[in-house]
Amino acid sequence: MDGVTDRAYRTIQKKYGHPDLVYTEFTSVEGLCHNAIKLMRAFDYDEEQRPIIAQIFGSTPENFRPVAVMLCELGFDGVDINMGCPAKKVHRHGSGAGLICTPELAQEIVRQTKQGIDDYRNGMRSKDCPDFSSRILKDVRTRVKNLPKPVDPNRHVGLSLKTRVGYNEPITREWFKYLLDTEVEAIALHGRTLKQQYTGMANWEEIGTAVEIAKPTGKLILGNGDVMNHAQALEKVKTYGVDGVLIGRASFGNPFVFLKEGEKPSATIFEIALEHCQLHENDWPNTEEHNSFYIMRKHLGWYIKGIADASDIRRELFLCNNTAEVRAVFQKYKLI
Ligand SMILES: Cc1cc2nc3c(=O)[nH]c(=O)nc-3n(C[C@H](O)[C@H](O)[C@H](O)COP(=O)(O)O)c2cc1C
Repeated sequence: MDGVTDRAYRTIQKKYGHPDLVYTEFTSVEGLCHNAIKLMRAFDYDEEQRPIIAQIFGSTPENFRPVAVMLCELGFDGVDINMGCPAKKVHRHGSGAGLICTPELAQEIVRQTKQGIDDYRNGMRSKDCPDFSSRILKDVRTRVKNLPKPVDPNRHVGLSLKTRVGYNEPITREWFKYLLDTEVEAIALHGRTLKQQYTGMANWEEIGTAVEIAKPTGKLILGNGDVMNHAQALEKVKTYGVDGVLIGRASFGNPFVFLKEGEKPSATIFEIALEHCQLHENDWPNTEEHNSFYIMRKHLGWYIKGIADASDIRRELFLCNNTAEVRAVFQKYKLI
């Protein structure tokens, strides 16, 4: 999730919630192909985060191919194409959920991404890709700080996409006709339209329809929307036949959302919040010109949600500039 699922966040979620699968923040293929080296930060990950999927978005098919080669080279377990983002800055360029209106373009994007994965298996590396950013290409693995060791080049790299049930209205059947006719192995479906953004409730009946029509193809369908815990996820699997469930917002400040029934948290949420602060500081140290800790403040707001005196505590946390200051606030309110 954009602005949320960076390396530190994923480390915390994996360590304290053990989700089966995590995704990077979505990243623009157009940006990557135009030398935006700073975007490479999104692809920083650790071995413990496997299986880890890199998510990309864009609307220019030819940009997906070299980026897919690069993601294989960086050792990701899968490449996921975002066809569901409702943000204006994304869909007005025809990317994200904008692709629901141009299904043939969506198919071409899948084809090019698959081609990139195949190119990698056939020995191509990002430095061999014509027209790809020459600065990124120098040595792509040096562009990401904490990358695990190179992986077996012959292993399988998955291809998937994530989308919504429609643009203005649910059109799952129509939209899936196109998606099921591509080489993606899995489709994650958020049960809202673009127009709904995040309002109303996710329409799980539409997700059930997708499961039904996808069955003969053997493609996996992952359902998404408004799932609050592991038990609810299991319920969705039972009721709608999905192969898996993605949990988004309910994980904010709460890695325990992924714990199975009866599994006990191995630390308190405030200890975890402090650990998250420290990981964040390690990855994004403050400099004289720039305070990077502000990004952490929203997470702190999530960690204390629902506790007594939350608004007073939040006010103080939102003034913190490092882990030590957060610890002092937690101690003042006897949270640790
Ligand atoms: C802050 C924020 C950022 C998001 N960024 C992404 C993203 O980068 N890629 C993506 O596929 N979905 C993104 N989403 C959508 C979520 O993955 C998910 O589909 C949506 O929140 C519904 O699931 P939930 O009810 O479990 O949160 C984002 C959602 C939020 C709230």
